[in-house]
Amino acid sequence: MDDAPVSDGEAPHHDAWTDGDTLAYLQWSDAFVPRRQEIAQMVAALVQCIAGARCVVVDLGGGDGWLVEAVLRAHAGMSAVVIDDSPAMRAAADARLGPFGARAAVRAGNLREPAGWLADCGTVHCFVSCLALHHLRPAERRGLYAALAESPVPGGGLLVADTGRVDGPEVAHCWGRLWDEAVATQSATRTGTPAAWDAFRALRWNSYAHGFDPGEWPLTAGEDAALMRDAGFPSADAVWSFAGHYLVAGYR
Ligand SMILES: C[S@@+](CC[C@H](N)C(=O)[O-])C[C@H]1O[C@@H](n2cnc3c(N)ncnc32)[C@H](O)[C@@H]1O
Repeated sequence: MDDAPVSDGEAPHHDAWTDGDTLAYLQWSDAFVPRRQEIAQMVAALVQCIAGARCVVVDLGGGDGWLVEAVLRAHAGMSAVVIDDSPAMRAAADARLGPFGARAAVRAGNLREPAGWLADCGTVHCFVSCLALHHLRPAERRGLYAALAESPVPGGGLLVADTGRVDGPEVAHCWGRLWDEAVATQSATRTGTPAAWDAFRALRWNSYAHGFDPGEWPLTAGEDAALMRDAGFPSADAVWSFAGHYLVAGYR
């Protein structure tokens, strides 16, 4: 589990997460992420099972707040905070979560420096994250998990969905094909047009076909679960995966 980025040897599709990526993601994420509604369903169900129906949830790198929206819609007794370092993402999250009033807050924060925002979150029962933590180096992710493990009340949890590392070209090819197929289907069903699928291909977004960026450090689900256990979430394991994307649940 070193800090070397994953690459299939081709040029990466872009050098780092840019404002352009944010705009593309805000426009197309519903189609770009394979089976995103399954991730939301799993997270919403697990949050309740792990932390109870009246808990406080913090979404790490929560983007436009879609996952928090799904959790708050599913559980009227929960409240949530989105942490993100992108002003454009936070503005989108503010707009999306405004209807939830005091149940939702959106705050600036760098996941690499949890001391700067974690204390302000108060008592947190469950941390969640979707497709954000591969932007941290493994050592940074380890440091974040250690800080989180000190924060939740007993029984608290950590639910991480992310895009996974792959070593062999055979599995990478399989994941890449499944991801392509999912986006083509979701583009048609979500937008009624191939527009999202066209954008996905033009942006070379499929990391299993085109390689990860230098600024991305994906882990396998097993490596992520091991990091959680080491940090202080002793029960941690993969609970879902599709097309290289996974959900790991850690709790105690
Ligand atoms: C691929 S987007 C995913 C957003 C959201 N979780 C979702 O599922 O739609 C990655 C998010 O992580 C945020 N992010 C990346 N690195 C970050 C960091 N060091 N601190 C805070 N946020 C970060 C980005 O601003 C972006 O909103």
